[in-house]
Amino acid sequence: MDPIVDLDFIDNRTPEQAAACETKVSEETNTGKARKLYIESYGCQMNFSDSEIVSSIMFEQGFDTTSNIEQADLVFLNTCSIREKAEQTVRNRLGQINYYKKKKPEMMIGILGCMAERLKKSLLEEEKIVDLVVGPDAYRDLPNLINEVDGGQKAVNVLLSREETYADINPIRLNSNGVSAFISIMRGCDNMCSFCVVPFTRGRERSRDAYSIVREAQQLVENGYKEVTLLGQNVDSYKWASEDGTESVNFAQLLEKVALVSPDLRVRFSTSHPKDITDEVLHTMKKYDNICKYIHLPAQSGNSRVLELMNRTYDREWYLNRVDAIRAILGEDCGISSDMIAGFCTETEEEHQDTLSLMDYVQYDYSYMFFYSERPGTLAARKLEDDIPLEVKKRRLAEIIEKQRETSLNRNKRDVGKVHRVLVEGFSKKSDEQLSGRNDQNKVVIFDKKHYKKGDYVNVFVHDCSVGTLFGEAVG
Ligand code: SAH
Ligand code: SF4
Ligand code: F3S
Repeated sequence: MDPIVDLDFIDNRTPEQAAACETKVSEETNTGKARKLYIESYGCQMNFSDSEIVSSIMFEQGFDTTSNIEQADLVFLNTCSIREKAEQTVRNRLGQINYYKKKKPEMMIGILGCMAERLKKSLLEEEKIVDLVVGPDAYRDLPNLINEVDGGQKAVNVLLSREETYADINPIRLNSNGVSAFISIMRGCDNMCSFCVVPFTRGRERSRDAYSIVREAQQLVENGYKEVTLLGQNVDSYKWASEDGTESVNFAQLLEKVALVSPDLRVRFSTSHPKDITDEVLHTMKKYDNICKYIHLPAQSGNSRVLELMNRTYDREWYLNRVDAIRAILGEDCGISSDMIAGFCTETEEEHQDTLSLMDYVQYDYSYMFFYSERPGTLAARKLEDDIPLEVKKRRLAEIIEKQRETSLNRNKRDVGKVHRVLVEGFSKKSDEQLSGRNDQNKVVIFDKKHYKKGDYVNVFVHDCSVGTLFGEAVG
C-alpha cells in the first residue's frame, strides 16, 4: 500500500489526535436495560461528542451500551463525509457488519452523522442492511424512528435545525479516561469553504446556552475530570444571547467563565478560524493559567490565491499577522497546529512552495495533512476543476509531511531541558511502568510512573524528545 495515500495524518499525533481519526467503540453501561446498543464513531471530535448524546437518548429509551457487537440489538455507525476515504471506510465496515447481521437477523443497523445527512434516503437503497438513517440534528427523534423499525419499516430523519444544540442532554461519557472530556459549545458552520462538506452535513451555525456549558464543566469537575475541550467548527464565532436579550456572551467571555469553574480544570478548545480569532481571546488565554497555551489554527494553504479559491476569507498576510499576535501576546512557547490541504484545484508548484514557506515561518508543533478530495455538492466541485493529478497531490503532501516532521522536531527540541506541568492520562502505550500525559501545549510527555497516577498534575523535567513525544522524569 502506498504509505502516503493511506497517511492522511503524520504519525506525531497525541493520543487525543490519533483517537480523533480512529474508530471509537462504545463502552459497557450494564444497568440491566432490556436491549443493547453498540455505537462506533468516525470523523471529528464533534461526532464522538454526539455519540455520547445519542447514548444518553438511547439509555432513556431502554438501551444499555455494549462494546461487543455480537451482543448488540442495535448497531449505530456515526459517520464522516469529509473525504472520500472516510465514506469508503464506513461502507467497508457495513460489509463486515453484514456478517453479524446474518447470524442475528433481528439486529437493527443505523447510520448516523454526516454521511446520513449527505446521502439521505439513498443510503437505504445503496446499503441494503441499513434500517435507519439519522442526521446530526435529528437525534431526539431516535425513539420514534426505532419504533418505526420495530414495526418493520425503514426509517429516515435528516432534517437540519437552526436551533438544536442538545443543551439539556447529559451525555453518557464513552471511552473516557475519566480525566478529559469534550463539551460541544456550538453546532454547524456558516463558512462555506469551497472544499468542505460540513456546512451541508451539519447545517447552520448555532451557539449553545453559555450556562448549560458552564454547568456541564462543573459536573465534570464534580465527577473528578481535570480537563475539558470546548468543541466547535469555528469556536471564535461563538455568540450566545439570553432570551430576554440582557446578556450576550462571546467566545473570550465563555472561555473565561469555563476557566473560572475551577483552577484545577484545564481548558482547551478547537477549532479556531484564522479570520475570527481575536486578541481578546489571546488575552483571556494569557490571563488564566488553566487555559492551555495551545491553538489549532488551520491554514489550509500558504498562498493567497489558493486561499481565495478555497473561500477561506483571509490571505497569507492576515494569517501571519494572527500568528504574530499569538507569539506577541502568548510568547514563543504557545503551541500552534494546523490543517493543510495539498493539491487543491489549480494549485501551482510555486503556490505549493508558499505552503512550505508558511510552515517554515510559523514552526507548527504538528499538523493534520491531507491531499484534496473533491466532495460532491461543494462550491469547489461545482465551480472548479479537480485538475491536479493524484501523483502530484501525493508528492506535494509528502513534502508537506516532511516539512512538518522537521518543524515538530525543532519545536520539541526547544522543550528539552525544561520542566513541564503534565496532566497524567494513563499508562504509556509501551509500558505500565511509565505514564503518559500532556503538557500545556498539548504535547505527549512520557515518564517513569513512581507513585504518580492518572489524573495527577506532575512536574516533569524533559530530557529527550522524538518527532512526536517528549521524554522526561518527574521532579515533584
Ligand atoms: N472547521 C475546521 C475544519 C474541519 S474539517 C476549520 O475550518 O479549520 C477538518 C479538516 O479537513 C479541514 O481543516 C481540512 O484541512 C480538511 N478537509 C476538509 N475538506 C477536505 C477535502 N475536501 N479534501 C481534503 N481535506 C479536507
Ligand atoms: Fe468546513 Fe470551513 Fe466550516 Fe471548517 S470553517 S467546517 S473547513 S466550511
Ligand atoms: Fe466528518 Fe462531519 Fe466531522 S464530515 S469531520 S464528522 S463534522
